[in-house]
Amino acid sequence: MMISDSKNDMPKHLAIIMDGNGRWAEKKGKNRIQGHSHGVKAVQKVVEEAVQLNIQYLTLYAFSTENWSRPQEEIGVLMKLLVSTLKSEFQKLLKNRIKLNVIGNMHELPAFVQKELEYVVEHTQDNNEMTLTLALSYGGREELSNVFKQLATKVKNNIISPEKIDQSIINEHLYTQNLPDVDLLIRTSGEKRISNFLLWQIAYAELYFSKVLWPDFTKKHLHKAITSYKKRERRFGKTSKQLLG
Ligand code: IPE
Ligand code: IPE
Ligand code: MG
Repeated sequence: MMISDSKNDMPKHLAIIMDGNGRWAEKKGKNRIQGHSHGVKAVQKVVEEAVQLNIQYLTLYAFSTENWSRPQEEIGVLMKLLVSTLKSEFQKLLKNRIKLNVIGNMHELPAFVQKELEYVVEHTQDNNEMTLTLALSYGGREELSNVFKQLATKVKNNIISPEKIDQSIINEHLYTQNLPDVDLLIRTSGEKRISNFLLWQIAYAELYFSKVLWPDFTKKHLHKAITSYKKRERRFGKTSKQLLG
């Protein structure tokens, strides 16, 4: 991909809020379930392309803590779809040397989903081409509440002193402890909100909102988002002049 006047390299950590499966289905006169299965096809393409582009960390928001309040039938189908995709993509993960990682409250997931995730995570743990993180039963506020709970317990048990609590200690207690901060966050479907995703980790992420519904999201749209990212000046609170110097 040729990009001129770029200020940034490829994002090291790309995160995506994959939204719009339901609306995609509705527009086509199909049911929401079909929207989700077409969403999986978009996932496959984006993962392949992320590897081609040498992105090191790709994090996908697949199911939020709030999504548990959807109709039981839809939740059931999403869980089954997740397991069948893990099974069908397993060889591809090995071939492309992709390491699977999961963030979220795994205990909330049905046992058959947990089992499959554990299997794939374990068997891909030595892969180093790209880390693919699936956010499942994930909520940013829940993640942060867990951090506060863990730290409070450590203080109570005299394992750490309150003065020692800083950003790096907080990072170490997050689900994302092994991941760098997010560089680029994409949300599809035209919604411009974060919906409880990676609240701490996106402090300085560049945000990119696409009107495209997730099942229609292609390599071309991914390239467009990355081109936009590359042109942006990430100042991290500094002045433009300081960045040049
Ligand atoms: C995203 O698509 C997938 C999940 C949240 C699991 P949606 O299912 O939210 O699709 P819309 O937003 O209803 O179109
Ligand atoms: C966010 O999408 C969660 C995922 C993509 C998994 P939602 O469709 O659940 O978000 P809201 O409800 O529109 O904010
Ligand atoms: Mg949605």
